[in-house]
Amino acid sequence: MDAMQECLAHAALALRPDPRLNVSEWADAHRYLSQTASGEPGPWRTERTPYLREIMDCLSPSSPVEKTVFMKGAQIGGTEAGNNWIGYVIHHAPGPMLAVQPTVEMAKRWSKQRIASLIDSTPVLRERVKEARSRDSGNTVQSKEFPGGILVMTGANSAVGLRSMPVRYLFLDEVDAYDFDVDGEGDPVSLASQRTITFGNRKIFLVSTPTIQGLSRIELEYEQSDRRRWWVYCPSNRVWSGTNLDPSTFQ
Ligand SMILES: Nc1ncnc2c1ncn2[C@@H]1O[C@H](COP(=O)(O)OP(=O)(O)OP(=O)(O)O)[C@@H](O)[C@H]1O
Ligand SMILES: [Mg+2]
Repeated sequence: MDAMQECLAHAALALRPDPRLNVSEWADAHRYLSQTASGEPGPWRTERTPYLREIMDCLSPSSPVEKTVFMKGAQIGGTEAGNNWIGYVIHHAPGPMLAVQPTVEMAKRWSKQRIASLIDSTPVLRERVKEARSRDSGNTVQSKEFPGGILVMTGANSAVGLRSMPVRYLFLDEVDAYDFDVDGEGDPVSLASQRTITFGNRKIFLVSTPTIQGLSRIELEYEQSDRRRWWVYCPSNRVWSGTNLDPSTFQ
């Protein structure tokens, strides 16, 4: 492909309308969990973690939801939901995306361990993100270029990283571990969110295990949301867990 053809191919991808497939369907169709990155290697099955379905589908372009807040317990798939979204964006809805971990070091580790494996073990992504070794591949630890978009990975402790570019998609992982002020420039969540304001079709995904009640960022965001919960039946007490509960609603 010559330079002009490549340029036209990129433009065609960027202008393509967003597909109807949503993020959970995409993960079921394309995602493979590798042995190095997961305790349960093999094809991704949303059925295994059904509480992630609605969350992931709010991240799909077909959903009108702009901000999705996931307050959660430890190790239940919060980061994987975001990783599936990243895969979807690269494959089906390309655009500029910023993904934030608490520190730059953590972002680099996550990129090397999880994002590299997401791309390597998913053929439709491998086709779109060139290998890091090829010259001018646009593929480094902190940034992955793909036709029609780019994924930049940074830490909430780097003001420069947080305001590096305008973004349509913003993935803020483990927000309760972010400092309240970054490099004297204020709140890292606000700083990153400002990057999205020029996109009418932006999406923001905040994920975290809550820390201290009353001081927790994710709790505050959850309180400002429509406060959906995933109810779990407790067989020994014969009740649905959670507060404000009217069991008849769920039986
Ligand atoms: N649907 C799934 N099928 C198989 N494995 C899964 C699924 N969802 C999550 N996992 C696995 O569970 C583990 C925890 O997932 P993940 O790291 O996304 O959780 P987390 O909620 O972000 O955890 P933490 O609290 O440490 O941030 C990973 O090894 C992941 O691959
Ligand atoms: Mg996580």
